Amino acid sequence: MKIRLKDKIVVLTGAASGIGRSTAILFAKEGAIQILSDIDEVGLKETLEMIENSKDKTSIMKVDVRNPEEVKNMIDSTIEKYGRIDVLIVNAGVVRVGPVETFPDEDYDLLIDVNLKGTHHTCKFAVPYFKKQKFGSIITLASVAAHIGQTAHANYCSTKAGVLGYTRALALDLAPYNIRVNSVSPGATDTPMLQSDVAKQAKDRGITYKEVKKEFESEGVLGRWATPEEIATGILFLATEESSYITGADLRIDGGWTTQ
Ligand SMILES: NC(=O)c1ccc[n+]([C@@H]2O[C@H](COP(=O)([O-])OP(=O)(O)OC[C@H]3O[C@@H](n4cnc5c(N)ncnc54)[C@H](O)[C@@H]3O)[C@@H](O)[C@H]2O)c1
Repeated sequence: MKIRLKDKIVVLTGAASGIGRSTAILFAKEGAIQILSDIDEVGLKETLEMIENSKDKTSIMKVDVRNPEEVKNMIDSTIEKYGRIDVLIVNAGVVRVGPVETFPDEDYDLLIDVNLKGTHHTCKFAVPYFKKQKFGSIITLASVAAHIGQTAHANYCSTKAGVLGYTRALALDLAPYNIRVNSVSPGATDTPMLQSDVAKQAKDRGITYKEVKKEFESEGVLGRWATPEEIATGILFLATEESSYITGADLRIDGGWTTQ
């Protein structure tokens, strides 16, 4: 089997759960040297335990992407140790749902601070190094919510549409430096994030978890949720030279949700 990321230096945020965890496991199999970060230290350690074959090539770091100093330290210490970053995956994210008229300000602040400003912090401190080294791939996590409206998701949608715009514009800025910048837009993906989203909606609407889940499943034309591994394979594609002519693009892995 061809190893696609042998000794590539990969920095990944949000690695303690869901899509980030599956990406870390897949990238380890592909030979990457990884710096995995998350606000959740316990979950990070679990991810490390799941990486059987290359624990020696993997470091974990507790980083809150809302905190610029912590993010800067993650980027600077990676450069100090390895001298470069081949792939930066900006994955950490949160969801909060509810109607706008009662949406708590603190929930909107959290969405903006993690999804939007967290994305910015992670790119901001890495960009000077990327510009110097003149190679590399940056991958952000947008969402179907960046492309279409979703009931009770106005605040979340606004942050993911922001991530999409940020990614496209950054791709233009970094193209002269041979850096590719792309986003992935997952549809409904079976992770703790989606499970909490469905549970909250079921509670708010007075219907069962199963009923809301069924609604989400019927959104994609494939009629089921994605596994986090199915999103990780798309991230892998954008990380490797197999996607060498792709920049400023958004890869929708949504089971056909947004084609309808
Ligand atoms: N699951 C889905 O259906 C879905 C759909 C579209 C987009 N996405 C996006 O994919 C990405 C991953 O989501 P997931 O489904 O794996 O969710 P998840 O909740 O399973 O994982 C998200 C991770 O981000 C971490 N995180 C949250 N706040 C953080 C902070 N301030 N600093 C550092 N880490 C923080 C969490 O601790 C968690 O480990 C997110 O950006 C999400 O918006 C998910």
